[in-house]
Amino acid sequence: MIQKRKASSIVAGRKRESGKKKLTKYHTKLDKKMKSSSQAYLKRQAKDIYVKMAVEQGFRSRAAYKLVHLNGEYNLLKPGMSIVDLGCAPGSWLEVIEKELGKNCTVIGMDKIEIEPVGDYNFIQGDFTEEETFNQVVDLCPKGVDLVLSDMAPETTGHRETDHIRSMMLANIAIDFAYKALKPGGNFVAKFFQGGEEQEMRNELRKHFDKVQFTKPESSRRESKEMFIICFGYKGKQD
Ligand SMILES: C[S@@+](CC[C@H](N)C(=O)[O-])C[C@H]1O[C@@H](n2cnc3c(N)ncnc32)[C@H](O)[C@@H]1O
Repeated sequence: MIQKRKASSIVAGRKRESGKKKLTKYHTKLDKKMKSSSQAYLKRQAKDIYVKMAVEQGFRSRAAYKLVHLNGEYNLLKPGMSIVDLGCAPGSWLEVIEKELGKNCTVIGMDKIEIEPVGDYNFIQGDFTEEETFNQVVDLCPKGVDLVLSDMAPETTGHRETDHIRSMMLANIAIDFAYKALKPGGNFVAKFFQGGEEQEMRNELRKHFDKVQFTKPESSRRESKEMFIICFGYKGKQD
C-alpha cells in the first residue's frame, strides 16, 4: 500500500510538473508573440505618416485624418449643423469638427470611455447598446440631427469573421439610431469591418437614403478590413 501511494504520488507529482512546464512554455510563447506584435505595432506607428501628422497638428489620434479625408471628399461638415459622433474617444473626430466648424454647430460625442472635453461640445459616457445611453443622446437632440457619424469599433479578436460580425452589430445599432435621430435630408457615416454582410446592409440603407456608397479613406490602413458606409439624404421615418 505504502509503495503504491508513493508510486501514485510520484506519478501525480510528475504530472503536475509536466503540466507546469507546459504552462510555462505556453506563457513564454504567448509573451514572445505579444512582444513581437507590440514591437510590430510600435514600428508601424513610427513609420506611419498620419501618426506623425497627428502629433505635429495636435490631434489626439491618427483617426482624425479619416474624417478629414471623408469630409474632403464628401463635404460632410457644414456650418450650423447638429452632429452626433458615436464612439468618439479619444476625441480626434470631435477635434476635426471643432477645427472645421468651431462653435457654429451643435455636437454630441458618445463613448464607453471618458474623454477630455473638446471645446464645449456635449459628451455622454456609456455603452451605446444600452437603451439608457441611447435615450440620453435622443434627449439631447429631440429635434433631430443633420449628421450621424459612427467610428465605433468592437474590441478586435484577430479572428476576421468574429470581428466582422461584431462590427456589423454595432453598425446596425448605429443605423437604428440614425433612423430615429436624423432629420429628413440628413447624412449618416458608419465604420465596419468587411466580411460579406455589408451588401445586405447597403441594400437596406438604400431604402432609407437617396444615395449610399462604400468608401475607404486614404488614411485607413490598406491591410485593415476597415471600411465606411456613407449615406446621403435621409428620406425620413417610414412606418
Ligand atoms: C476607433 S475608436 C474611435 C476613434 C474616434 N473617432 C477618434 O477619432 O478619436 C472606436 C471607439 O468606439 C467605442 N465603442 C465601441 N463600442 C462601443 C459601444 N458599445 N458603446 C460606446 N462606445 C463604443 C470604443 O470605446 C472606442 O473608443
